[in-house]
Amino acid sequence: MSTLGTVAKTVLRRRYLRQDENGTVVETPDELFHRVARDVASAEEAFGGDADAVEAAFYDALSGLDFLPNSPTLMNAGTDIEQLAACFVLPIEDSLDSIFTALKQAALVHQSGGGTGFAFSNLRPQGDVVLKTGGVASGPVSFMQIFDSATEQIKQGGRRRGANMAVLDATHPDIERFVTAKADEGTLRNFNLSVGTDEPFWEAYDSGARYDLVNPRTGAVVDQMDPADVLARIAEMAWATGDPGMLFLDTINEHNPTPALGRLEATNPCGEVPLLPYEACVLGSINLATHTADGEVDWAKLRETVHLAVRFLDDAIERSAFPVSETDEIMNANRKIGLGVMGFHDMLVDLRIPYATSDAVEFGRDLMSFVHDESWAASRDLAEERGPFPNWADSTRERPMRNATTTTIAPTGTISLIAGCSASIEPIYNVAYTKHVLGGLAVVNDRFVDMAKERGFYSEDLLEAVHGRTSIQDVEEIPDDVKPLFQTAHDVSGAHHLRVQAAFQDHVDNAVSKTVNLPQSASIGDVEDLFLTARDLGLKGVTVFRSGAKSEQVLGDDPRK
Ligand code: CDP
Repeated sequence: MSTLGTVAKTVLRRRYLRQDENGTVVETPDELFHRVARDVASAEEAFGGDADAVEAAFYDALSGLDFLPNSPTLMNAGTDIEQLAACFVLPIEDSLDSIFTALKQAALVHQSGGGTGFAFSNLRPQGDVVLKTGGVASGPVSFMQIFDSATEQIKQGGRRRGANMAVLDATHPDIERFVTAKADEGTLRNFNLSVGTDEPFWEAYDSGARYDLVNPRTGAVVDQMDPADVLARIAEMAWATGDPGMLFLDTINEHNPTPALGRLEATNPCGEVPLLPYEACVLGSINLATHTADGEVDWAKLRETVHLAVRFLDDAIERSAFPVSETDEIMNANRKIGLGVMGFHDMLVDLRIPYATSDAVEFGRDLMSFVHDESWAASRDLAEERGPFPNWADSTRERPMRNATTTTIAPTGTISLIAGCSASIEPIYNVAYTKHVLGGLAVVNDRFVDMAKERGFYSEDLLEAVHGRTSIQDVEEIPDDVKPLFQTAHDVSGAHHLRVQAAFQDHVDNAVSKTVNLPQSASIGDVEDLFLTARDLGLKGVTVFRSGAKSEQVLGDDPRK
């Protein structure tokens, strides 16, 4: 088993290790890895596999911190709440019955540790008629507030705040209200917002025309808007608060592997998994930081981990019990999994490639291409062993696969802390800082310290000097060839963040969760430009975060706090 750092141990003790009814921790980290490996590997029995051998391999990958599944799997596998997925999308139709059914389903999903996304686009607009009562409708934003309050009361799995994504189509008559819904600090704090756009919106934008606002209840065009005004408004709010982001629903649906089952209209809370109504996804991330040797990528080990991880995630679907029966059905029929990576920046440091370079972008693209191809190969192998996902014949997948999707880039907000690596495909935020959510723990970047010692510029004073800094580029003691390797989120331009996102998106079935950090001095126009660039790059969505913007990030464990 790899040695766990202090942060990892603290996070595990606080939220992951099993507790008895008095809240006393009754499990060690090693026992956690055994519990998860044993439980997930037990799925092998149904397929005539060697559950003991697979369990041993899973245990080695988990305890070696080579691969970690999403938090609900770590928390729930082998316990009474055997719900292993982090991501859900629930449908909401235009009726009180549907709205409150979704509210109840969301509560159950949160209780089990999952996050929920919803399209509110089918709800009639504010002020529209309510035939049954002769009253007027509240509209999507009011109903979102009810979901927000309910979320506030139910801590996920009793251990973390719940997270939601609300999507509203740009053609909805309440779009302006939606875009500004988080203008007041503290409102909708358990929601991320995304405006859904489609081809007609962008065609109108390109030709300088207006586009239609449509009442979803009647199908009637009730108004028209200038898409440039809407975009400017979105950019203004995103500049001020970080919300809303944008979803490019046409691009998302071009890549929908099962169009016969309907359109993808919403994603999970952090945007990395577009899902059909009731669909869920079990995520897992490979720790790239443990897949280098002598300054090179250990491709053989990486291949092995990808294959094992795909097996793990498919087994996890088999083991998972979902709180909503419709989810059971569609999960068994599509079997979407989301394998991604974390520790990308750490790997770049090992390869001596600075994050903010074209080399990093091209390397990221090649790396993800490898992970993606191997994950499909693994899913095809599983299809031979276990049969393809039942909706395969109706899908866009040409050869039989076990899973409708295999890849996703998740934020890895907490699991990267457990693995002790840089989060997801993000640049580091500091080389040394105090982690307040963990009661003031001091955290230092191991690679930075090792390099400082190796190169002879290490000192306690240096660590103190860099502590809490969001950039080390002007610290004199650090050699000029070392500085670029430790570029932070602040040193990386918004445009470069997007290029990295796009490079990974090129080889990801689902989507990429990436925060595009901007300096405080960025203008509203800069945000608008980034949205347009994101669209041009063929991304499925985009979220920006300007330094100093007021926000309540729903990223659970924002690595910056
Ligand atoms: O690191 P961890 O597995 O805890 O999660 P993540 O990669 O940061 O987030 C993956 C997904 O988990 C998010 O997109 C949400 O769907 C869900 N999540 C959540 O429901 N609640 C949170 N507080 C954090 C994440």
